[in-house]
Amino acid sequence: MSVYGRFPGARPRRLRTTPAMRRMVAETRLHPAELILPAFVREGISAPVPISAMPGVVQHTRNTLRKAAAEAVEAGVGGLMLFGIPEVKDAVGSQGTDPNGILQVAIRDVKAEVGDDLVVMSDLCLDEYTDHGHCGVLDDDGRVDNDATLERYAEMARVQADAGVHVVGPSGMMDGQVGVIREALDGTGHQDVAILAYTAKYTSAFYGPFREAVASSLKGDRKTYQQDPANARESLRELALDLEEGADMVMVKPALPYLDILRQIADTVDVPVSAYQISGEYAMIEAAAEKGWIERDRAIMETLTGIKRAGAGTILTYWATEVARRLQGGE
Ligand code: PBG
Repeated sequence: MSVYGRFPGARPRRLRTTPAMRRMVAETRLHPAELILPAFVREGISAPVPISAMPGVVQHTRNTLRKAAAEAVEAGVGGLMLFGIPEVKDAVGSQGTDPNGILQVAIRDVKAEVGDDLVVMSDLCLDEYTDHGHCGVLDDDGRVDNDATLERYAEMARVQADAGVHVVGPSGMMDGQVGVIREALDGTGHQDVAILAYTAKYTSAFYGPFREAVASSLKGDRKTYQQDPANARESLRELALDLEEGADMVMVKPALPYLDILRQIADTVDVPVSAYQISGEYAMIEAAAEKGWIERDRAIMETLTGIKRAGAGTILTYWATEVARRLQGGE
């Protein structure tokens, strides 16, 4: 009996006593296969270019990308999400639909390197390719033109699938994009190419470092097409539409500020759910760790565990290979 009488009536601390006890009762375990590595490949460079706001992440050359893909396989990582940075950008993002554009070339490179040992995915969006930096083409008034953009996306889906990608990841938040892409794929014999839909994609300050990563020329913001952080219900609407249009997997992005959305979606669907731990989430931890303000490795594992606990089956993270190695080491 305690000196305080009736309390404590129960002792949950018994299950926290030793590392073995904690390991045994852990409800959430990370596994390398559920991690997806986002990677940048830039046209026309002869050495990798560091991204200052994302220490440890680079714009790859075609060669170093192949190496990174091989290392990811070695570490047991589940997938790779590729982003291309072309030498030339224009109003319609021509390089995004050129069969010899950097992303298409990189898909072929990576497929030649790893074959089917890794799920090869590609970003299907125009912002890396347009000189104005928007995710779609603009109308005469400078607004992002939804339906004209869909035509460009259909073409992107075709060239990416022709290059051999396993999964396309439409990230532009245009209405109808999943349906149009599904039709374009099916109409060109690419029935087996899957769609990872960026279903609940919020307009976010945490995309900042990514803009440097893809040398984005965006002025302004994406508030007319990405979701408002204040809203939860419209995520369920986006979810219903994406599933109806044929999404094979759905994603919530960013991850950490939107764990409630992730949980709601995970509780609703019967397809795999993904979360994207984005560039700003990466940068915050790296920056605080560099200052000695937080323990880097623990913070990384804690955020990934939290994202998985909230309902993510797969997680896109720039730490994928590093964490996969750590997990292989038995941590
Ligand atoms: C759009 C796209 C973005 C990211 C992935 N796909 C940028 C944006 O929507 O502004 C961000 C990823 C990250 O920040 O890590 N193609």
